[in-house]
Parts: sequence; C-alpha cells; structure tokens
Amino acid sequence: MVLRLVFLGPPGAGKGTIAQRLCEAHKLLQISTGELLREETGRGTELGNKVKAIMESGQYVEDEIVAELVENKLKELGEEKGFILDGFPRTIKQAGILEGILNKLGLKLNGAFDIEASDETIIERLSGRRSCGKCGKIYHLKNIPPKEEGKCDKCSSVLVQRNDDKPEVIKTRLETYREKTAPLVKYYEEKGLLKVIDANGKVNENIQNVETILGVIE
Ligand code: AP5
Repeated sequence: MVLRLVFLGPPGAGKGTIAQRLCEAHKLLQISTGELLREETGRGTELGNKVKAIMESGQYVEDEIVAELVENKLKELGEEKGFILDGFPRTIKQAGILEGILNKLGLKLNGAFDIEASDETIIERLSGRRSCGKCGKIYHLKNIPPKEEGKCDKCSSVLVQRNDDKPEVIKTRLETYREKTAPLVKYYEEKGLLKVIDANGKVNENIQNVETILGVIE
C-alpha cells in the first residue's frame, strides 16, 4: 500500500525527526510546511518576506498560503509515491482544503499520527535543537549530536539554530498549537485515521512504535 500520512503534534515533539527517518526507510516524500516556508524566507522571496515575522512570532501563516505550497508538492508526486505531511494540516480549515486537494488528485490518506510529548520534553528538545542550513537534517546538541561539532553529517554544511526556538516564542507556539491544531486530533479520530504516539522516549523507540502501526496499515 502507498503510505499517505499526516503528522500532527506539538512543536518539538519530534515530528520532523521521525518523518525524516521514515521517509528514508520507506522512500516517501517528506512535505514539511515549516521547511518549505523557511526555504522561502532563506531565499528572501516575496512570500518569504511576507511570512518571516509571523513565523518568528510563533503564529501560523495564512491557511491559503501554506495550502498552495502543499498542493504544488502533491501535484508533482504522482499516484505511486507516498508522502508524510509533516506539520500540515494545522487548522480545521487546512484539513478541509487538504481533503479537496486529495479528492482532486484521486488520493486518500491512510493515517494521521499524533506525535505527543510533555511540555518538559518539548522545551528541552527545542532549546538544544540545531539543524542543517542546507539539507534540513535535524540534530540536538546533547541528544542527537552531529559527529563533528557544528557540521552536518550528511552534507557538511553549518548547523544553525532556528529563530523561533527562543523561550518566549516556544511559549507562543505551544499556545497556538493548543488553540488551533489540537482540535484536529478529534477531527481525524472521527475519520478513523488517528494513531497516537507517545514520543517522550528515545528516537528508535518512537520509530519502532510508528513502524508497528504501519505494519498493520500496510
Ligand atoms: P515547523 O517547522 O513545522 O515547526 P513545529 O511544528 O513547531 O515543529 P518543530 O519543527 O519545531 O518540531 P518537531 O516536532 O518537528 O521536532 P523535531 O523533530 O525537530 O513550523 C514552523 C512555523 O512555520 C510555525 O510556527 C508556523 O509559523 C509556520 N507553519 C508551518 N506549517 C504551517 C501550517 N500548516 N500552517 C500555518 N503555519 C505553518 O525535534 C525537536 C528536537 O528534539 C530536535 O533537536 C531533535 O533532534 C530532538 N529530538 C527529536 N526526537 C527526540 C527524541 N526521541 N529524544 C531526544 N531528542 C529528540
């Protein structure tokens, strides 16, 4: 079965880390809306300049903007290749837009994973996060350090700290998540697609838990 998954879950719970590993293992496309938006801000495009301040404040970018980025990626994909939507949808409105896009393309989701972690875990993970400025690979200063300090294992580029990983912005991101995205858990539960993962453990344990569920889906 072609895997077409959605990843929900608070900032810093480990969605991107799990998605990167699963996409490598199952040859899926990772569609991270945060990464797509950061690419735009990094390139200084008109769109990037428009969303930069919103992202750095911990608020959400307009639904239509993010949906267009996702639609373009999904159109490129074809029917054969699976995907993980990492961080999309994030509002009930985005979930409705996604359904419309998938219907148009003749595709169906087969799982929505809610990747959960405690606030304590989240704050510890986000404050030590570093990611590759070029390929986006995610590290943690203590938990998942690169082989060589400050350098990406995969492409040797410099590791950077995200502007939205400051304590005051983390607080706003958590509040925004609870207000706008948490309701999607019920939304996908009602559609029979929800799988909840306790991601407080080690990366390999989290991956194993997701793989066990995927084994049932596949
Ligand atoms: P986005 O980039 O999606 O950020 P986020 O959802 O806040 O999630 P994060 O990337 O911060 O965390 P994660 O769960 O992926 O954790 P990670 O694996 O990195 O979005 C950024 C912004 O873009 C939003 O705030 C918004 O403005 C905008 N945006 C994006 N999508 C949008 C949308 N759909 N609508 C509107 N606006 C949108 O892990 C975190 C750290 O923990 C890392 O250092 C990692 O190495 C470490 N770690 C991971 N797992 C473990 C583990 N098991 N044990 C120890 N350490 C671990």
